[in-house]
This record gives sequence, structure tokens and C-alpha cells, in this order.
Amino acid sequence: MAYTLEYFQKSADFLKERAGFVPEIAVVLGSCLGPFAQALENPVSVDYADIPHFLLSTVESHAGKLIFGSAGGKKVVCMSGRFHSYEGYRFEQLVIPIRVLKLLGVRAAVLTNAAGAVNPAYRPGDVMVIADHIKLNGDSPLRGPNVDAFGPRFFDTSRMYTPELRRLALQCARDSALRVHEGVYMFFPGPQFETPAEIRAARLLGADAVGMSTVTEALTAAHCGLPLLALSVMTNMAAGVLDRPLSGSEVDETASRVAGDFSDYLKKVLSLI
Ligand code: HPA
Repeated sequence: MAYTLEYFQKSADFLKERAGFVPEIAVVLGSCLGPFAQALENPVSVDYADIPHFLLSTVESHAGKLIFGSAGGKKVVCMSGRFHSYEGYRFEQLVIPIRVLKLLGVRAAVLTNAAGAVNPAYRPGDVMVIADHIKLNGDSPLRGPNVDAFGPRFFDTSRMYTPELRRLALQCARDSALRVHEGVYMFFPGPQFETPAEIRAARLLGADAVGMSTVTEALTAAHCGLPLLALSVMTNMAAGVLDRPLSGSEVDETASRVAGDFSDYLKKVLSLI
């Protein structure tokens, strides 16, 4: 399938009709951060399966719905469930959601995820505003023919996590129940958690947290010039930081524990964007 502008436009045209309004901000919810979506006002929900040319969530903790509604006084479109390369999607396919949301008319994207803390000063339940990322693994989502209508073949990534939005997110932390840091996210393709040696290497390279998502969406947003904020919830200390094995249930438990406070924090951030 050739990813032309028309390819993405077909999904966007379908959604414009279903939503009935132009959303201002796109929000992508990470694993188990779904409660935010349930609290949206005047929600209009669309199953991914009904959207032409879209992808399907295969991860249990990801709902697989696009929800239009209001939060923090802003009109938002919220992806409850995202797509990862470990599900079997090719990196090129992972441009789809952000390009479709861009065509809906959003003026900013807020990406959230669950991540493992590499920085020993972080604790499970803390939030990290992503200042920058490291991706040494896997292809770029922008691989393949460039769609010039979205952005240039070669593009700058040095300010892709929009400095003004990062500042705003750190300011909002003052009134939040959460501890909020700013740091570097390192992408690993998963689905296995990293080895302790990989985490030691990540730390040497300058990473504060690791995860299996977000970077593909962030690069797609940067390519089309969409202002971007990305927030990681530390659901666990990364492999080998503590002397015990990691499990998916630890990730789910921490995410469920902080989902309420995170939802309040996110609403505050959205109200100021
Ligand atoms: N590693 C990668 N992805 C993750 C982790 C982790 O430790 N925790 C939550 N998502």
C-alpha cells in the first residue's frame, strides 16, 4: 500500500463526519492510562476497526478506540490504545495515527506512555516530561517515499519536544500530587523487557527512562511540524536497577494506581495549551 496524502485523507474525512467538530489537541494514551478517556465530556467514540485505512490494537491493556470530547476546557481527540512495532506493524505503518490526527486539524499532540525508570533518583509513579530521546533500534517511521505535503525528506529533530510545552508541563507539576521530572527517553522495540546490561548501557548513554512506544509518533509529529509534548509514567524501575525480575503486572498495577492523579495532571496541562 502506497502511503500517499490521499491514503491518510480517507481516514480523516470519515472521522470528520463522525466527530462533528474540529479537535484542538490530539492525546495518545499509554498502557492502562485509559481512565482519562473515560472522563472526557460529551464523548463520541469510534472503534479503530471502523476507520478506513487505520490500524487495530492487539494489546489487551489498549482499548482500540478514538474518542472525541472535551477535557480541561479543550476539544480533544484521544487515542485510547496505540500501535507498537512489537505487535508486528512495520515502522512505516506507525505514521498512520498522527498523520490522520494532523489532517483532522489538531494544533498540538500530547503523547503519554508507561516507561521503566533508569535514573535511580526516579520512583515508580513519578512522571517524566520527555526532553529528548535516543532511538538506536529499529527503522524510522519516515522510511520510504516522502509525502511532501506533510514535511521535508530531511528534517530537524533538535527541538521536536516543544520547549514551551515542556516548560508548561513542568509548571503544572507544582499543583500536582505527582513528582514530575524532565529527562531523556530511550526507545527499545520490545516486547521483551530490556536486559540489565542494556539498561546499564542506556544509563551510560544518558537515558533516564526506557519504553517501547512514543518515539515513532513523536518523529511523525516532528516531520509534519506539529507541536509536541510527551509524558512518561514510571511504572517500574528498569531491569536490573532493583535486584528482582520485572513483570507486566507490575507495570499495570503502578499505571492503575497513578491513573487518577495522572488524569488530573493531564487535564491541567491541556487547559493551558
Ligand atoms: N521497559 C520498556 N517498556 C516499559 C517498561 C520497561 O521497563 N515499563 C513500562 N514500559
